Amino acid sequence: MYASLKSIGSYVPEKIMTNHDFEKIIDTSDEWIQKRTGIAERRIAAEDQTTSDLGALAAKKAIERADIDKSEIDMVICATLSPDYLCMPSTACVICEKIGISNVMAFDVSAACSGFVYILQIAKSFIESGTKKNILLIGAEKISTLVDYTDRGTCILFGDGAGAAIISATEDKNEAILDIHASADGTYADLLITPGCGTKNPCSHDMVDNKLQYIKMSGNEVFKVAVKTLTQDVVDILENNQIQSSDIDIFIPHQANLRIIEAVRAKLNFPKEKTVFTVGKYGNTSAASIPMAINDAYEEGRLKHGDLMLLDTFGGGFTWASALVRFGGK
Ligand code: COA
Repeated sequence: MYASLKSIGSYVPEKIMTNHDFEKIIDTSDEWIQKRTGIAERRIAAEDQTTSDLGALAAKKAIERADIDKSEIDMVICATLSPDYLCMPSTACVICEKIGISNVMAFDVSAACSGFVYILQIAKSFIESGTKKNILLIGAEKISTLVDYTDRGTCILFGDGAGAAIISATEDKNEAILDIHASADGTYADLLITPGCGTKNPCSHDMVDNKLQYIKMSGNEVFKVAVKTLTQDVVDILENNQIQSSDIDIFIPHQANLRIIEAVRAKLNFPKEKTVFTVGKYGNTSAASIPMAINDAYEEGRLKHGDLMLLDTFGGGFTWASALVRFGGK
């Protein structure tokens, strides 16, 4: 029995925040942001929209496209770093309530931007073991609530959005998730961190005054490790599966920074036309980045049944993951 990515869906909030909007609130320019990151605009969720609202809308689309009834879904996993609630209930449970799924195992995974590929690995294992048949995966972020809009080194990078997929059992290897490699190294934890609100720096007036609830990042150092790790991860997964980069139909990297994607692409010699770029219009949507990019490729007609996708992601922790996935959708 194999696991297959049978459908994909996404949701992006209506509000667009352009680089010119940032020029009005911080010392920056459209030119600087475009040149250093490739980002032109990003989506920002409405004040009354939560991460689960975004995730539920993406999930509904993925369920519709999988051509299954929601009663057939036997597990729900949400990857997010911006959950509705810090401790409980999980965003997965809230999404289940919103889309009318109950009495199934539902939980969140915290692996920052690598979250979606991490939960893909979990789903693959549950399906291959025969324990579950149809698993709903969601990567959803309202990351704008974790961004300090006075910190020009971070606030320009992130955006809100959600992506979702249905992973189902199949006997056909031509529509299977072939391999996933996921890993982490906590020695880099301080380079990309939201220091506040957890047990280390619990909620307090002091914590808020010091803005510890927001994302802090050593951009330059993150950049260097990201390029090195993303590149090595792809080399390893291709080698382990004896697959040449020319066998890949579509390369879907984490959308954090165009320069990171281009550096990885150049080192691996991937053609531009086989690479998906969404960072320019969505910025970095963390755990939602990969499923949103798969969805864009699908909606643009760039993905057909059996196509070999290479996913590659990196995020806070540090965490990283890559996957070889034959598209199982129609
Ligand atoms: N507008 C204008 N200037 C800015 C700026 C902005 N938005 N942000 C930073 N700068 C300034 C810095 O203050 C610094 O000025 P100084 O030389 O006077 O001190 C200068 O630009 C260079 O800063 P630096 O941090 O070295 O720039 P950079 O080329 O590394 O680009 C990032 C900054 C954040 C775009 C880049 O490091 C990056 O994308 N890193 C990876 C981040 C990432 O992807 N994280 C998520 C991983 S999942």
